[in-house]
Amino acid sequence: MRSMAIIGAQWGDEGKGKITDLLGQKSDLVIRYQGGNNAGHTIIVGEKKIVLHLIPSGILHQHCTSVVGHGVVFDPEAFQVELKDIQGSGVDVSPERLRISENCTVITFYNKLLDGQREAKGPIKIGTTGKGIGPAYEDKTTRKGIKLKDLLNKESLVEKLRDNLIEKEILFKHLYEVSYPSPEEEAERLFELGKLIKPYLCDTFSLIDHAIQKNKKILYEGAQGVLLDIDYGSYPYVTSSNTSAGGIYTGAGCPGSSVEEVLGITKAYVTRVGEGPFPTELFSELGEKIQQIGGEFGATTGRKRRCGWMDLPLLKYTVKASNITSIALTKLDVLCGLEDLKYCYAYNYEGREIDCAYPGIDLAKVEPLYRELKTFHDDFKTDQLSAPLKEYIQTIEDFIGIPVGILAYGPERSEIQFCKEYLH
Ligand code: IMP
Repeated sequence: MRSMAIIGAQWGDEGKGKITDLLGQKSDLVIRYQGGNNAGHTIIVGEKKIVLHLIPSGILHQHCTSVVGHGVVFDPEAFQVELKDIQGSGVDVSPERLRISENCTVITFYNKLLDGQREAKGPIKIGTTGKGIGPAYEDKTTRKGIKLKDLLNKESLVEKLRDNLIEKEILFKHLYEVSYPSPEEEAERLFELGKLIKPYLCDTFSLIDHAIQKNKKILYEGAQGVLLDIDYGSYPYVTSSNTSAGGIYTGAGCPGSSVEEVLGITKAYVTRVGEGPFPTELFSELGEKIQQIGGEFGATTGRKRRCGWMDLPLLKYTVKASNITSIALTKLDVLCGLEDLKYCYAYNYEGREIDCAYPGIDLAKVEPLYRELKTFHDDFKTDQLSAPLKEYIQTIEDFIGIPVGILAYGPERSEIQFCKEYLH
């Protein structure tokens, strides 16, 4: 297997970072293809905690080239901060090791302002990360987006920003009543940041194409999760990109046949940040306990994550929606020793029992049906798992019809067990 993707199989925060980090060691290229700095991948290496938002996890491996594909929305200022941060941790982030598509859409100040104002004053609160992600994708789709290559020419940048601002100005002045920088001021700011980014820019399409031709090992690093996908997710409580495997082909720019395996990452329970329906959400003390033991706080916003039971109808759906071929089951340690464990095996929906949360279903109206799980007390000191934990894993595999290829029971690289070989 020369290429694979790592995709969140829930609402994000499934622990993709550490697995991408491990498989990045085997890869020649690690490619981000969607989202932006709304993502937060926390990787623990020894004593060091490194949080990556925009820069692919491959950056931590000297032999690996990290690529930011054109499907990513790129905040140059956030990049400047992240670059400084990880360089401060002693990581080499030279332009030879990090390549960024010149066609990434830029997140402008206007995008961030609009995101914040809508969340604060708009009729529907999505609970966004406030990073300007949605408005930047809007600009891209309405063909008013600023591309990274546009930052290199100040005169044309001012013109493009002027055009970009025409409709937003009405909102800023008359609906939200907030001040905003002029196109000249914004162009100045972005032009300065463009100088920092220029050495990293290239035609990533050809870079990836050549890597495929040369049979290089490629890892596509997804951000967020399938349930936040703009098309497949729990709309409107989603992010604005295609977080499912479909996003790879357009966002990185590669043929479908070049992704041989899609590894879906799922926690042994479910979490969600932001608003939106969550069928198996726990409102009990046990939910609080899982939140605390699991350290369930957003890596980007620090918000508390909502916690709930494993939801197999949702997992079955994400497996189908993203053509997932195997699963990594993470955070097993969090459930260890807890009593009264459950998982959801079906929903009661409009008088019918269904075992797959197909699109269009109103997740706010389903009644989850549960089965009990036996308590497991594994200490994970050996590869031997207890009978109740094996039973849980088997239940999941039988239900979704694909294998669990990875088990994770802690944040360290040593706490991840491979039951299947990837990128060999
Ligand atoms: P946005 O991506 O900032 O527009 O946020 C839209 C929705 O996606 C909100 O519910 C966020 O909480 C959620 N979201 C965005 N990025 C992440 C992530 O990396 N992990 C988990 N949730 C996320």
